[in-house]
This record gives sequence, structure tokens and C-alpha cells, in this order.
Amino acid sequence: MGADGKVIGLVASPNRAGRTNQLVAAALNGAARAGAPTELIQMADFVVAACKDCLPWVCKDNLKCTYEDEAFEHLSRQILNCGALVLGTPVYWWDTSGLAKYLILKMFRIYAFSAPLQGLPAFGIAIAGGTGNGLVSGLRPVYHFFQIRFLRHASILRPQFSGPASLVKRLQRMPTSVFLLPVLKSGCCGMMPCLILV
Ligand SMILES: Cc1cc2nc3c(=O)[nH]c(=O)nc-3n(C[C@H](O)[C@H](O)[C@H](O)COP(=O)(O)O)c2cc1C
Repeated sequence: MGADGKVIGLVASPNRAGRTNQLVAAALNGAARAGAPTELIQMADFVVAACKDCLPWVCKDNLKCTYEDEAFEHLSRQILNCGALVLGTPVYWWDTSGLAKYLILKMFRIYAFSAPLQGLPAFGIAIAGGTGNGLVSGLRPVYHFFQIRFLRHASILRPQFSGPASLVKRLQRMPTSVFLLPVLKSGCCGMMPCLILV
């Protein structure tokens, strides 16, 4: 973990210029202003194939998918080498996008008995831009992944329910606010249901 110290931002939306992109880019902007190198990655360019749950279960030992999956190879290499991870997903039918899910499921299977992501600072973003329903359930799989694979994250914030002033005050006390304040200032979560956990 952290070989190149870069903060990478994964946009798990097929819409390269949508709201997910806007929020992930804002988070990276905050990291860049704090001096970190950053890279935004469009997951639409790296679509991970579904885990086949194959047997014998060799990937847990050699930490490599048995089937050729260049997208997964690329994304997992980036994640294993980065200094911090931002993962942003649109909410689809109260759930995380397929782009995010397929990556997460393959990582669960391959890293089931190892912990290469342990301690990696991680930041999850979900945007429910339709009815606003399903925001929490859409982000939950992202934080489930962070939790189970031992990434570093803490406490819950709901920008849409907190007054902006109190929220900014809380953020100023948190080290991860380097990601958060630019996201809030991007205007997206002032107007749209957008849940951000750190
Ligand atoms: C298949 C599909 C399902 C969606 N389901 C929901 C939903 O459950 N709740 C919601 O508020 N918005 C929903 N939306 C709207 C998206 O969350 C919204 O358009 C979001 O901004 C998409 O992210 P993007 O701008 O990065 O494309 C859905 C959109 C699509 C395409």
C-alpha cells in the first residue's frame, strides 16, 4: 500500500462527465491542494468482468484472477500502489453501480485471506440524482468493502441534513476534510442527495 503515494479517484459511473465525476474530481482537487499527487480513473474505461467464483480457489493464494481481466489487473494495481482511495458511485435502483460492484466482488474473492489494503485511507461517495431514494443503501456496499478489507475510514456525515456551517465546523476538525470541503463547495451536495462517508 502507498508505494506511489498518489490519491486515486475512481468514477464508477458509465457517464464520464456526470455528477459522480464532478464529486470525485472535487475530492481529488482537495487532495491536490494539500500537495498530494492525484489521478482520476474512469471505470467506464476499465470494466471489470464478473467473478466466476471458480474452483479450485487459487486466486486467494496467487492473488491473481485465473481468467484474463486486464481491467481488473489495471485497477487493482492502481489501488494496491496508491496512498489513498476515493470511490464514487451513482445510485442505481437503491444500489451501487455495477461498475463498482464487479470490482468489489472480485477483490473480496482474491483478497479473502490476505489484507493488502489494510490501513489504506479510503473515502466513499454516492450520488442519488433521481428521487434521492436509496442513497444509504447505494453507498453501503462501498463501506462494507472498506470495512471488510480493513481500509481506514471513520464516522458518518449527512451533508443534506446538517446545516452547512455546522458541517464545515465538524469537517475542520477532521483530517479527511482535505477531501470533503471541496466536494461540498462543488455545489453538488448542496442541491442533490449526496452521501459522503469518511
Ligand atoms: C438505472 C438507473 C437507476 C437509478 N436509480 C436511482 C435511485 O434508486 N435513486 C435515485 O435517486 N436516483 C437513481 N438514478 C439516478 C442517478 O442516481 C443519477 O442520475 C446520478 O446522477 C447518476 O450519476 P452520474 O451523473 O454520474 O451519471 C438512477 C439512474 C439510473 C440510470
